[in-house]
Amino acid sequence: MTKPLVAGNWKMHGNTEQASSLASQLAANWNDLQAVEMVVFPPFVHLSTVKEVLANSAVALGAQNISQHEGGAYTGEISGAMLVEQGCQYVLVGHSERRELFGESNVTVAEKFKAAQKVGLVPILCVGESLQERRQGQTLAVVSSQISAVIDCVGLRNVSRAVIAYEPVWAIGTGEVASPQQAQQVHSAIRTQLGNIGADTRLLYGGSVKSSSAVELFAQPDINGGLVGGASLEAHEFLNIVKLAE
Ligand code: PGA
Repeated sequence: MTKPLVAGNWKMHGNTEQASSLASQLAANWNDLQAVEMVVFPPFVHLSTVKEVLANSAVALGAQNISQHEGGAYTGEISGAMLVEQGCQYVLVGHSERRELFGESNVTVAEKFKAAQKVGLVPILCVGESLQERRQGQTLAVVSSQISAVIDCVGLRNVSRAVIAYEPVWAIGTGEVASPQQAQQVHSAIRTQLGNIGADTRLLYGGSVKSSSAVELFAQPDINGGLVGGASLEAHEFLNIVKLAE
C-alpha cells in the first residue's frame, strides 16, 4: 500500500514567530505515524526554528528549493548538504513558481532532482501545464515531457523512488481547483509513464487544495495525497486536509 503524503508549502510567508507557532500546532495535533505522512516546507531562514519545534514529532521537514551545485561560489544558493544538516528529508524541485518566475528549465530541474537524491533528500518533482497549454490540448504532452527530462538525467528507477506532484499552473493560488476527473486523468498518465516500477510512487495533486475539495481528490485511485499552498498556513485547515488523506 502506498502511504499518502500531504505536504504544506509555506512559500515566502510569515516571520519566525508565526513559523514556530504553526509548526507547534501541527506537531501537537498530529501524531499519526501510520496512515499518512505530513511534511512542511518553511522558508529557508525558518528551517532551524521549525526543526527544533518538530523534533520528536510525526511531522517531517522539507525545503522549497535546492542548488544543483554541491558547493562553491554560488552567491545566494543553498546546497543539499546544508538542507540535510537543517533536518530536511524532502525538497521541492521544479515548482511552477520556480520555473516561471525564476527561469528554471527542465534541465535545471533535473539537475536539482539529482543533487537532492545524491544527499539522500526525497525530491518532490512538481509538474503541470499552463491554462493556454490545457486549452490547446497539450496537458499530457507537457507533463510527460517535464517528467521525461528528469528520467533522461537520473533514470526511471530514481524518478520512481521520488514523489511527483501534479500542479496545474492555472490552479495554483487561484482558488480554481482541477476537477477530480481532470486530476485523475493526468495522474493515471503519469503512472503509465512510470510503468511497473512506478506502481507505488506517490503522486500528489496540488493547486488550491482545501478541505472542501480534498475528499473527492484523495478518493481518486492514482492520487496519493496533496501539495498544499495557501491552506497549509492555517493549522486547523491543514490538519483537516491531512486527516482526509487517511
Ligand atoms: P495553492 O498552492 O494551494 O495555494 O494553490 C499550491 C502550490 O503552489 O504548491
